[in-house]
Amino acid sequence: MGRLNWGMIGGGQGSQIGPAHRISAAVDGLYSMVAGALDIDAARGRDFALSLGIAPDRAYADWQSMLAGERDRADRVDLVTVATPNATHYQITKAFLEAGINVLCEKPMTVTVAEAEDIVAAAARSGAVCAVNYGYTGYALVRHMRAMVARGDIGRVRLIKAEFAHGFHADAADLDNPRVRWRYDPAQAGSSAVFADCGIHALHMACYVAGQQPRELTADFVSCLPGRALEDDAMVSLRLDGGTVVRLWTSAVAVGRMHGLNIQVFGETGGLRWAQEWPNQLFYTPLGQPTRTLERGGPGLSPLADRASRVTIGHAEGMPLAFANIYADLAEVITAAKQARPPDPLALHYPTAEDGLRSIAAIAAAVASAEAGGAWTEARPPSLW
Ligand SMILES: NC(=O)c1ccc[n+]([C@@H]2O[C@H](COP(=O)([O-])OP(=O)(O)OC[C@H]3O[C@@H](n4cnc5c(N)ncnc54)[C@H](O)[C@@H]3O)[C@@H](O)[C@H]2O)c1
Repeated sequence: MGRLNWGMIGGGQGSQIGPAHRISAAVDGLYSMVAGALDIDAARGRDFALSLGIAPDRAYADWQSMLAGERDRADRVDLVTVATPNATHYQITKAFLEAGINVLCEKPMTVTVAEAEDIVAAAARSGAVCAVNYGYTGYALVRHMRAMVARGDIGRVRLIKAEFAHGFHADAADLDNPRVRWRYDPAQAGSSAVFADCGIHALHMACYVAGQQPRELTADFVSCLPGRALEDDAMVSLRLDGGTVVRLWTSAVAVGRMHGLNIQVFGETGGLRWAQEWPNQLFYTPLGQPTRTLERGGPGLSPLADRASRVTIGHAEGMPLAFANIYADLAEVITAAKQARPPDPLALHYPTAEDGLRSIAAIAAAVASAEAGGAWTEARPPSLW
């Protein structure tokens, strides 16, 4: 089977996440970029689409004309990536799913729990795949952590400490910078800033590695910079449904921290430590033994990790290749459906709409808990109790 047809909504020229998606989708030669509504400014979006090699009749002015133009084509898009600002995800994702078109939606999948429930239902009705881009679980060694936990290498997981703390919103001189300001404006960002933007990546990673889901949580939100309506730092403790405790810190005012996504997993018989800024090493400490360094691409890793690894040992694999693993998983699942065969089980590791829903429910719970002075709060979405 040839390449899949891929389209993008948002991710226009100068956007933050658009280039990462284009690199990631191109890496394995599994997709051709054939359609796009890339920018809120129609002319700019069309020009950019043409510059990327998209045919003029598929360089759309907006997502509505892209849906109308694609839905009845024999060679229509197999997958659409939605990389627009948060508040637009729900409407766009739902419309494409209802047309039976597979979607990879940027996080957060929606702004409210009710919308997220609706997306899960729309995906189930349509039979189309809906994925959410928690792309950092695409790293080979994150997948290896999951495999190690699942096969019992560190025993029952007692505790996970997860962090996503950066320092790029710490400067009071930036309060009026439009690229920063909207993130703390509830009308544009929703009810949470740094937890919804960054913390949920750390939470999704903790859940993915543990193979468990959030059950309840307590949250402490703070706005360190005066005048900010939403939190720029949060500490959240969670109980997962398998009994694991998660301590999660997320911040946008941690001066000196860069991307700052780290995880430590503490089991009965061993511990694991991984940091996204040094993604090619995983530190494994069996109880009572010296720490071992597991190298990406090295011997003895799980099939899950080997499948997610491309270049040989000692060469860096970074974020676009982690995202590329999400694209590769989706290509396998979409192709398998076209060929009426079961997909490779190792491809079933992309974050789903249900993962998106669980995250939105955790955000709502954290906001409610913080407002109630840190009260323990149910974190499951109503439909998944
Ligand atoms: N998974 C990650 O690690 C990660 C990282 C960064 C951003 N994101 C998410 O990606 C999304 C986009 O973030 P960003 O930082 O790239 O934003 P951005 O503001 O840099 O870019 C947004 C792009 O979308 C276009 N756009 C806006 N509305 C549109 C519409 N209605 N139709 C078509 N195009 C439209 C804009 O013109 C722009 O090109 C957000 O939801 C964000 O949370 C995810």
